[in-house]
Amino acid sequence: MDVFEAIRSRASIGKVLPEPVDRALVEQILEAGTWAPNHHHTEPWRFFVLTGEGRKPLGRVMAAVAAAKMADPESPENQARLHNEAAKALRAPVIIAVSAHPTDKPNIVRVEEVAAASAAVQNMLLAAHALGLGAVWRTGPATLHPLTKQLFGLGPEDELVGFVYLGHPDMQAPPRHRIATTDKTTWIDTDQEHWQ
Ligand SMILES: Cc1cc2nc3c(=O)[nH]c(=O)nc-3n(C[C@H](O)[C@H](O)[C@H](O)COP(=O)(O)O)c2cc1C
Repeated sequence: MDVFEAIRSRASIGKVLPEPVDRALVEQILEAGTWAPNHHHTEPWRFFVLTGEGRKPLGRVMAAVAAAKMADPESPENQARLHNEAAKALRAPVIIAVSAHPTDKPNIVRVEEVAAASAAVQNMLLAAHALGLGAVWRTGPATLHPLTKQLFGLGPEDELVGFVYLGHPDMQAPPRHRIATTDKTTWIDTDQEHWQ
């Protein structure tokens, strides 16, 4: 697939089939992630591939994060909500959690490490699309929660940039819209004397 076509036709696919995805395809997608640009060659991305029963701890953490915000998590209606929350981790046969592990050196800029891990996610979304798979980058309240970091053994300096939910598509790509680049872009082709 041509790169422009891949970029333009990729869409977030939130509904996928429960059937597993071949490990070789998942490995191809991870490989695409590792070719993202990164400053100082730090390669800050870390991937956690959750499949089958391995998705359940994430579901439990998502439910625990939701429960912590409830006045009465034990009420029957909240118990049903928490059950649904835990089931969210089963929406796709594969979930790839992506974190950034900033290199501990004085010249490393933390936000650049997160940017590089985010670029890895985009590479993975494009690779999944090129392979005919459906994927969506999800975050949500659990992403920034210490319990989730603990689940993946992350340190306080690490950042979870999100979860790639992956599977064989069970929906058509929805229509997508973007604001014209002209509304987002300033071309500067003369000297701006008021700029220092
Ligand atoms: C950092 C980030 C977090 C996102 N989190 C969610 C999410 O929690 N749930 C969701 O359905 N989509 C999430 N998305 C996907 C966006 O909703 C999606 O990219 C947007 O609607 C544009 O659609 P497209 O990807 O099909 O172009 C996230 C995207 C990014 C970049």
